[in-house]
Amino acid sequence: MSVQAKIVAEGAKTTNPKVLAFVEEAKALFKPDAVRWCDGSKEEYQELLKLMVDCGTAMWLNPDKRGNSILVRSDPADVARVEDQTYICSVKKEDAGPTNNWADPAEMKATITKLYDGAMQGRTMYVVPYSMGPVGSPIAGIGVMVTDSAYAVANMHIMTRVGDKVWKALGDSEDFVRGMHSVGYPLPTPKTADVPWPCNSTKNISHFPETREIWSFGSGYGGNALLGKKCHALRIASVKARDEGWMAEHMLILKLTNPKGEVKYMAAAFPSACGKTNLAMLNPTIPGWKAETIGDDICWMKFGEDGRLYAINPETGFFGVAPGTSEASNLNAMRALDENCIFTNVGLTEDEDVYWEDMTKHKPAHAIDWMRRPWTPEADRPAAHPNARFTAPASQCPVIAPEWEDPKGVPIDAILFGGRRASVVPLVTEAEDWKQGTFLGSIMASEKTAAAADAKGDIRRDPMAMLPFCGYHMGDYFAHWLKIGEKGGDKLPKIFYVNWFRKSPEGKFLWPGFAENSRVLKWIFERCDGTAEAIDTPIGKVPTEDALDTDGLDVDDSALKELLKVDIDGWKAELPLIREHYATFGDKLPQGLREELSQLEKRLS
Ligand code: PEP
Ligand code: NA
Ligand code: MN
Repeated sequence: MSVQAKIVAEGAKTTNPKVLAFVEEAKALFKPDAVRWCDGSKEEYQELLKLMVDCGTAMWLNPDKRGNSILVRSDPADVARVEDQTYICSVKKEDAGPTNNWADPAEMKATITKLYDGAMQGRTMYVVPYSMGPVGSPIAGIGVMVTDSAYAVANMHIMTRVGDKVWKALGDSEDFVRGMHSVGYPLPTPKTADVPWPCNSTKNISHFPETREIWSFGSGYGGNALLGKKCHALRIASVKARDEGWMAEHMLILKLTNPKGEVKYMAAAFPSACGKTNLAMLNPTIPGWKAETIGDDICWMKFGEDGRLYAINPETGFFGVAPGTSEASNLNAMRALDENCIFTNVGLTEDEDVYWEDMTKHKPAHAIDWMRRPWTPEADRPAAHPNARFTAPASQCPVIAPEWEDPKGVPIDAILFGGRRASVVPLVTEAEDWKQGTFLGSIMASEKTAAAADAKGDIRRDPMAMLPFCGYHMGDYFAHWLKIGEKGGDKLPKIFYVNWFRKSPEGKFLWPGFAENSRVLKWIFERCDGTAEAIDTPIGKVPTEDALDTDGLDVDDSALKELLKVDIDGWKAELPLIREHYATFGDKLPQGLREELSQLEKRLS
């Protein structure tokens, strides 16, 4: 054994030879000053917070307002995921597909090895064992991440299950995802000054799906640096799920209980900024109904012994967009933020609490913005960065479901797809079957404009909300969905397409959204039981006007008619756009989806 390997092994908390070899390889490449094997303890978390405060990366917030919480302001050039520098390095280009940046794995490794060489000089390399999902759950998966970012480690503590229990669960298995992360700011001599938010203008987030590896360089920020989340739980896991016959999806999971105490579990995929976190935590407005949260972003599903799909939330926290979150929009999220949180790139009030746009009815008279500049409500810029985030323990959510950590998962009754569409797409549609549901998911789109009804508006197709997160060819991903459909048969969840964002020709939202979405969830619940009324339309089943519970709801009859209307001309105008979207997948577009499209065409004419 080399001297170097011995040093690594001495601090190691595992004897797994693959882990030791991985850590040794990382150490030889990164050349850190020290290696720290993380144990996931509360003490370790507190030590990391203190370290960040001592280094100027973070500051303590007012303990009377946000107990044990810190504010972190990043480098202004490191505030979001970098999709254009995110790569899927599969051996064959066609396995990455047209919706991902592809690079040859050997070439990419040769290129980035130069960046990684010595990147941790003067720093500590943390070794972070984590489980996505309850440790030891048959649906969960393990990762080992090395990083030089205390911020990343502290966030991983909140977002995943970190600790020695993971080594125990892993044993000598080779089945773990290897994650290498560096902020790319070495301190090669004692004279080199550190900065509060080290990062590098060169960023590179590379995934090697065949070898289950993630190499992330140059960014300390969220989705780029917390490797358990998008990189592992979606990009790598989607490939693993295809290989092993399960599903890794960009979905919230919620539990809905009716007044009789009967329960349904629902999973829902919406693109970013379409209200996933809000729906996951909604307080129903209909008397006697209760909603509880299982997860707000990621859903892993496997077939149970009874042939149903069982889901876990692989995460243990919420990494949510702060701006727009308020007691009015999401009271349960606000309560989850009372203590033990990390706030990134939000504003700071005079009494050392946090502030972001639309957080409170009254704006503070003075604040410090996310770039550490004085701010007042008259300023022509926001106090918080639009992508400012909170990291909050899921256990602090007042409506977290008691079974959210059940290792066997929860059986999913319904899957919802949705986007932001001012026109064409009705409030809710039920697919005839899994195949048509897969079709609806594959044509999911979202539009940003406030423009009035226009089918050709500014639409981005985001199939199953997986566009930035699918680790392989999207055409093969659709085929995988259809394969799950064949395997699961009539035990599969029903699939629905929802749209909370339909507008009147004058550009006004027709549906109040937020907590009132519980009325749509109620209809979905009752469709799963076969009790609620629906009418057949060319695109699927929509509620009859009476079937939707509108008691006490301030929506007039004409708005309701418009919300439930299937706009035949609008859908006809949509067909060429769907064909154009499908053309990008070439031969990989499954026959089953071609059939769905031509059947829709026939039904519309
Ligand atoms: C992120 O940007 O770090 C992230 C988690 O993305 P999203 O909000 O799209 O889930
Ligand atoms: Na944790
Ligand atoms: Mn997300």
